[in-house]
Amino acid sequence: MRGRLLVVGALNVDLVVAATALPRPGETVVGSDLQRHGGGKGGNSAVAALRAGADVRYVGAVGEDEFGSSSLKELQADGIDVTDVIVKKGRATGAAFIVVDPAGENQIAVAAGANAAITADDVRAAIERADGWPGCVLVSTEISVPAVVAAVQESIAKGWRCVLNPAPVVPGIVDLLRLGPIVTPNRGELQDVYRLLGHGDETSVEAMAAAVAGHTGAAVVVTLGAEGVLVCDELGSTTKIAAGKARQVVDTTGAGDTFNGVFAAELAAGQGIETAARRGVAAATLSVEGAGARTSMPTVAAIEALLAM
Ligand code: RIB
Repeated sequence: MRGRLLVVGALNVDLVVAATALPRPGETVVGSDLQRHGGGKGGNSAVAALRAGADVRYVGAVGEDEFGSSSLKELQADGIDVTDVIVKKGRATGAAFIVVDPAGENQIAVAAGANAAITADDVRAAIERADGWPGCVLVSTEISVPAVVAAVQESIAKGWRCVLNPAPVVPGIVDLLRLGPIVTPNRGELQDVYRLLGHGDETSVEAMAAAVAGHTGAAVVVTLGAEGVLVCDELGSTTKIAAGKARQVVDTTGAGDTFNGVFAAELAAGQGIETAARRGVAAATLSVEGAGARTSMPTVAAIEALLAM
């Protein structure tokens, strides 16, 4: 069954410099030619989900500029429904400034632009239009906080499965956690969520994930980069899913977004958390083999080939 996924999140244009090292504070590093790629955690996850076999509707915003029109054309070319992307007058499309080192690690600064202008009403209207359609909603937090809050509240009120990728962690999401979204932080974000919930000193990833799951009453899935993911069920019991080895690591930008997109697409198709996470990890492994966030996001066939190895 094809999953039907509604993605609420940010769309950016990524301006990327491949350099010999990431700059330290105050340092200038010089790379070669500027690369330009489609980006934003929402846009990236949407593309990953589509390539992994889901039907995808996108809720977001762009500015009235060339970055905006090219971002929309790229999503449409991949087959994503962008009816619910609003063009915000007087705002620039989101842009990310990214340095990538030879090991594929990155540093990113984002100019949020139109992503910060998405309102709760924009999201509520889009969710009403999608009524009865999605099997799952994926929300990431690079957009305005009221938009994130509306997306999680409305989705859960409608009884839809909801995945909240807290990237970045913002204090405004704390009250949403008790509504029971499936939360998908990376290791650093897990520490931030744990502290936000009033816990003291950091402890193991397993214990922090269990504490967060105890609060949400839902699964917590922690992305651990090349190590894979830790799945913690709603009762606090944990399972580690190891990542395969990428043939080459060119650029890790968007690996987490790929995981989230494929994970949510699989949940939308009715899969269980562990199966969905396993496919998400395989997709994320393949996604680091090319430049830019989206270039090497895999198809269903590529994900299945890796899982069969
Ligand atoms: O997760 C990677 C993404 O973060 C990039 O595409 C960039 O746009 C930022 O949003």
